Amino acid sequence: MSTTSTDQAAEPTYDVRLVVNGTPHEVRLPARRLLSDALRHDLGLTGTHVGCEHGVCGACTVLLDGAPARSCLVLAVSADGAEVTTVEGLTEDDGTPQGRLGPVQQAFVDCHGLQCGFCTPGFLTTITAGLRDNPDPTHDEAREMVAGNLCRCTGYQNIVKAVERAADLAGRGRPDGDDARPADGGAA
Ligand code: FES
Ligand code: FES
Repeated sequence: MSTTSTDQAAEPTYDVRLVVNGTPHEVRLPARRLLSDALRHDLGLTGTHVGCEHGVCGACTVLLDGAPARSCLVLAVSADGAEVTTVEGLTEDDGTPQGRLGPVQQAFVDCHGLQCGFCTPGFLTTITAGLRDNPDPTHDEAREMVAGNLCRCTGYQNIVKAVERAADLAGRGRPDGDDARPADGGAA
């Protein structure tokens, strides 16, 4: 093992392979580097937000081999070889470089599911996984789907509406079609 700077003197580093949003990366990291920090600082994917840094708020949630995980609780070296999906990977390919908003992202826009947006990446990834497991949630199930994530400014009614809206949008496979539940017509 080698060290790369005097700041890291005597701290071993390890080669870590991550496939993030479909793109393979190889980075050399100290064993204590958190996955959240590796994504943000080593790979430049700052869409993953870090709030509490101890597993409570859910802002840092990413999909690790498809399952939601709090990236502030995962050592990057332990994710070696994993597929990671961050909020940047939730868009859909429409032939343009930026893509179009995925159904959960579009639902948050439609239902005004955010204010400052700090918590939003964690909600989007959490709901994406939740709807994959339960594509047609009841209102109570939609509430339960987001119960582990904290938002300090929006309140949860519009976020729960966004879950239901996203289920409608994803079910139709089109984020902008005509037959989805109206954004303001879901159960409150
Ligand atoms: S920053 Fe990871 S759960 Fe809060
Ligand atoms: S929108 Fe501000 S913390 Fe959720």
